[in-house]
Amino acid sequence: MLQEFNAKNENIQVFVKDKLYPRNEAKVSVLDSVVQGGDAVWEGIRVYEKGVFMLDRHLDRLMDSAHAMAFENIPSREFVQDALFETLRANHMFKDTHVRLTLTRGEKLTSGMDPRLNTLGCTLIVLAEWKPPVYDNNHGISIVTSTIRRNSPNHVDSKIHHNNLINNILAKIQANVAGADAALMLDDYGFLSELNGTNIFHVKNGTLYTPHADACLPGITRALILECANEIGIKSIEKNISLTELYAADEAFCTGSMGEITPIVNADGRAIKNQKTTTAKLIEIFKKKTVEYCTAF
Ligand SMILES: Cc1ncc(COP(=O)(O)O)c(C=O)c1O
Repeated sequence: MLQEFNAKNENIQVFVKDKLYPRNEAKVSVLDSVVQGGDAVWEGIRVYEKGVFMLDRHLDRLMDSAHAMAFENIPSREFVQDALFETLRANHMFKDTHVRLTLTRGEKLTSGMDPRLNTLGCTLIVLAEWKPPVYDNNHGISIVTSTIRRNSPNHVDSKIHHNNLINNILAKIQANVAGADAALMLDDYGFLSELNGTNIFHVKNGTLYTPHADACLPGITRALILECANEIGIKSIEKNISLTELYAADEAFCTGSMGEITPIVNADGRAIKNQKTTTAKLIEIFKKKTVEYCTAF
């Protein structure tokens, strides 16, 4: 699924460091850490009619990621929230919006890897765009298994939501070449980890399964789905899951702020039965949460 340019985003205002700029003037320095080493952390956040969805959890994860990366002079939570609200108000974005919020280690005195060269504080980027959910959630998506493994804590801990997305991008290229919508990434042991940009679930005999969050991003939507399942009496299990278990699933879907809940209809050429019963129940309760769990601004 290839996103297209939306003309409504042509003249948007983007927040960089400490103020708003028109889209074509919104830039970071060539000496910024994100340019030099992908040295940044980020959140993808959705805005619904009632406000910013799961804002506290996104700010928690952003702050935890920045702390784990030992960033210095991290802007306060209030500063980040104010910048987000200012950007949304400036663009009159009160629904159908996706925000890519990035915090880099900041500008360096000279090029180099050493974080001690970063003496100017972090760079905050708030890019809000008109963007309804990106996948075809009615018809679902097809996936193929990538040969690129998702990072385990042995490498770059996937619990840091960082901008070093090369392994996911390489996996996505494999999916593109194979004509699939997304890449399924495995962990070091060959168990399911996640898709290149979303978490994965499947349903078998009424029970919901998802991989442990050991080698995948502990997605905010993923956590919410597990909470929703519990609330409506659907048993859920986090476990090591093999490809064969996925192929034999009754239903499968992926989750993320960008696309919400997307059915998976085919995995490596195997049609997923897609009875949709449990998925439909989860979509229904998720929709209610998009009203309840929003912060107005
Ligand atoms: C690799 C990866 N997995 C899963 C997700 C979904 O996470 P969330 O539900 O917090 O949006 C994302 C979103 O950024 C992601 O980049």
